[in-house]
Amino acid sequence: MIAAHRGRFGGGGRIRVFRAPGRVNLIGEHTDYNLGFVMPVALELATYIATAPNADGKLRIYSEDQGEMCEWPVDEVARLARRRHWTDYPIGVAQQLMAAGFAIGPADLLVRSTVPEGAGLSSSAALEVSAALALLNGSAIDRLRLARLCQEAERSFVGMPCGIMDQFIALFGQTGSAIQIDCRSLEHRAVSLPGEVTFLAVNTMVKHALAGSAYAERTRECAAAVEAIRRRDPLVESLRDVTPEALAGLESLLPPVVARRARHVVAEDARVEAFVEAGARGDVPRMGRLMVESHRSLQHDYEVSCPELDFLVDTALGIDGVIGSRMTGGGFGGCTVTMLRHEAAQRFRAGVAEAYRARFGVEPGIYSCRPAAGAGEVENLENIPPGPGLP
Ligand code: GLA
Repeated sequence: MIAAHRGRFGGGGRIRVFRAPGRVNLIGEHTDYNLGFVMPVALELATYIATAPNADGKLRIYSEDQGEMCEWPVDEVARLARRRHWTDYPIGVAQQLMAAGFAIGPADLLVRSTVPEGAGLSSSAALEVSAALALLNGSAIDRLRLARLCQEAERSFVGMPCGIMDQFIALFGQTGSAIQIDCRSLEHRAVSLPGEVTFLAVNTMVKHALAGSAYAERTRECAAAVEAIRRRDPLVESLRDVTPEALAGLESLLPPVVARRARHVVAEDARVEAFVEAGARGDVPRMGRLMVESHRSLQHDYEVSCPELDFLVDTALGIDGVIGSRMTGGGFGGCTVTMLRHEAAQRFRAGVAEAYRARFGVEPGIYSCRPAAGAGEVENLENIPPGPGLP
């Protein structure tokens, strides 16, 4: 990657490389913006950015994936508008950092990523967080503050009203553990996963057009639920404050669609806690059932699944050694995550790929979900995956 950077930009100065991982969420979907619980894992799939200061007064960013070079005078970056382009992520982050008082100097950035784009594995947050670290080039920043700045870049500059999960796990992931995050207090804890199981993500290879608009619609429906419930109970500030039992008595206050959305969120928060408890007891079958309940709730009550995701979940559940399966991330395409016994991994990979090909004529991507570390500077450059090379 150092050679690729020198080849692209010239220059003989020190080049540093920063990495931020993608993520898979094991359970707790569409709960983060309702200030509830999530349980993601940082992946080995990651975005790497090699950076070096330059003396040209420019910010230059080259993406190997896009095969595209973009540049701006660095003193114009604060005034740039959204372009609906991949550079919105690093530019949005640069603007947030500048607004927070960090000096962003002229620099050359080379971006390389193994996080598949549009697969629901949070390539956006991986790009935001790696870009932030590259732009800071080693300047110290509090990790929680950085997660919030990156989330704000996505909300206000990119225009996606996301919660904090993706940016948070990109920064707080830990090798070997899932992370349970309380999206209200922003406390987190490492949760070790039972040794006899492994998790695999399967990519539908589709991203339906609805994904962006429906996400915003769901956030509005949840806000509408809270507003209606507050008329009865002013202490409720978010769906986090409502228990499944309390919601049952409040549903008549809500329009039917809003009631179903709220039911998903409230039950899903409870499932995260039940999943962690079951894991601590080594009750793997219960963990699996909770994953399937989560999927059914996303499918029927929250309505963010799609035929490809449902097919992958149903196919997985028919394979011997599979314990649980559900969609992961925002939905409308992207990936499922499946919990299975180690010895079933080969059978699962082959079986699910064959069934998906036969049904949709597409080869699904399958990725290991081994928990990896959160973002940081890459010390051992040999660990960086190879890029496409120079044209
Ligand atoms: C997307 C968002 C997250 C979260 C998930 C759904 O990944 O970026 O904040 O809301 O969807 O759980």
